[in-house]
Amino acid sequence: MAQAPLFAMLLIAAAMGFSQFHLAGLVVSPSRGAALPRRPLAGKAIFDGSGRCLSCHRVGAMGSVMGPNLSDVGSRVSAAALRQSLVDPPTEIEPQNRLYEVVTRDGKTVRGKLLNQDPFSLQMLDSGGQLVAFVSSDVRDAHFVEPPAMPSYRGKLTSGQIDDLIAYLASLRAPGDR
Ligand code: HEC
Repeated sequence: MAQAPLFAMLLIAAAMGFSQFHLAGLVVSPSRGAALPRRPLAGKAIFDGSGRCLSCHRVGAMGSVMGPNLSDVGSRVSAAALRQSLVDPPTEIEPQNRLYEVVTRDGKTVRGKLLNQDPFSLQMLDSGGQLVAFVSSDVRDAHFVEPPAMPSYRGKLTSGQIDDLIAYLASLRAPGDR
């Protein structure tokens, strides 16, 4: 019977129009009448596994540099913008997200992020995140290229899977912002 007053208070809080209150890790949203579990670990499983996000993105020491590094995306980007990236990604690539491509005199092509360039050499991170350096006289051609476009996941992932991914991405924070 000791539970009853607390339950009554929750009902009153809901009736007074509190839109959200937190209970033991669940976000209860009375307006939708359902508990929405936040499942960052389920989101990580999709990110690392079936979603194949690591084939373009880097988190910590894992993944590729083809797309932007997402290690601190939760500090930089709002949940609404994360959702938009997943269901309605931009068709124009941001300049800072372009890739650099080097073609060597012996016919090798390397794509990744340009780190530094001077008249004699250039250094970049290849798609797997490894540091590579070239002597200018070995380089036949070097230029910026568009990365492989971010696919839209609208209709490919369920809305529950997208919520889980957003919970995971929002948890990726810069050191000191946790
Ligand atoms: C084929 C490569 C590719 C794949 C696969 C991919 N992305 Fe992307 N993603 C990109 C590119 C390129 C951009 C940058 C677009 C731009 O410049 O606006 C991007 C942007 C993003 C952004 C916005 C980042 C920011 O800084 O605002 C998020 C979030 C994101 N992707 C999440 C994901 C998730 C989650 C998955 C897996 C479900 C995924 N991406 C799969 C290429 C990819």
